[in-house]
Amino acid sequence: MSRVVLLSASPSEGSKTEALLEFIARRLGQYGHRTEFIKLRHLPAGPLLSGDANDGLIASARDTVAAADAVVVGSPVFKATYTGLLKVFIDLLPMDALHGKPVLPVLTGGSPAHVLALDYGLKPLLATLGASSIGRGRFVVSSNILPTTDTTPPSIDESVERDVVDAIDQFDSELTVRARSCTHVEAAAAESLITAPIATDRNPS
Ligand SMILES: Cc1cc2nc3c(=O)[nH]c(=O)nc-3n(C[C@H](O)[C@H](O)[C@H](O)COP(=O)(O)O)c2cc1C
Repeated sequence: MSRVVLLSASPSEGSKTEALLEFIARRLGQYGHRTEFIKLRHLPAGPLLSGDANDGLIASARDTVAAADAVVVGSPVFKATYTGLLKVFIDLLPMDALHGKPVLPVLTGGSPAHVLALDYGLKPLLATLGASSIGRGRFVVSSNILPTTDTTPPSIDESVERDVVDAIDQFDSELTVRARSCTHVEAAAAESLITAPIATDRNPS
C-alpha cells in the first residue's frame, strides 16, 4: 500500500478537475492505496502570494507532500497552461519535493486544443522538483467528466474512460514496483546492520 497525495489546482467550487481526481482516488483506493487530497484553493491566498512557507496551513500541506510515497497533480488549463494557483504552491516547495516519488500529472481543458500543455507546461514544472518518474499523464476535456451527484460518484465518459483507467493502472503498477524495491532496500539495510562487524578497539573498522 502506498500513500498517495492528490493535489487539486482548480480555484473553482464544483471543479471538473477535482471530479477527475476523485475518480482517480477511488480507483487507487480499490487497489489498496491510501489517498489524501490537498485542495490548493483552501490554502490562504495572502501567504500563498507572498511566498510565506511558514504559514501553518501551507507548512502542513508541504509536510503532507513530503510524507507521500507518490503524488497525483491535477490542474485545469487556464490560458494555455496550468493554473497560477498551482504555480504559487509549487514555488513554496523545496527543490527536491518530488524526489523519489512517482508522479501522475493530469490536466482538464475546455477543448483538446491545449493538450500539449501537459508535455510543455506541467511536466517540465514537476521536473524542477526532482520528480524522477513522471507518468505519461492525461489531458481530459471537461465535458467528458461527470461530477459527483447526491447519488452517484464522479465518472468519465465511456469514450475516454478506458484511457484514463489505463493511466491509473500504469501508475498503480509503478507504485507496486517501487514498494517492492523499497522493501528490498530496507531488508538489505537491516541485514547489513545485523551482519556488519562491530567495531571495537580490538577490531577497528
Ligand atoms: C480563466 C480560464 C481560462 C481558461 N483557459 C483555457 C485554455 O486556455 N484552454 C482550454 O482548453 N480551456 C481553458 N479553460 C477551460 C477550463 O480549462 C476547463 O473548463 C476546465 O475543465 C475547468 O476545470 P475546473 O472545473 O477544475 O476549474 C479556461 C477556463 C477559465 C475559467
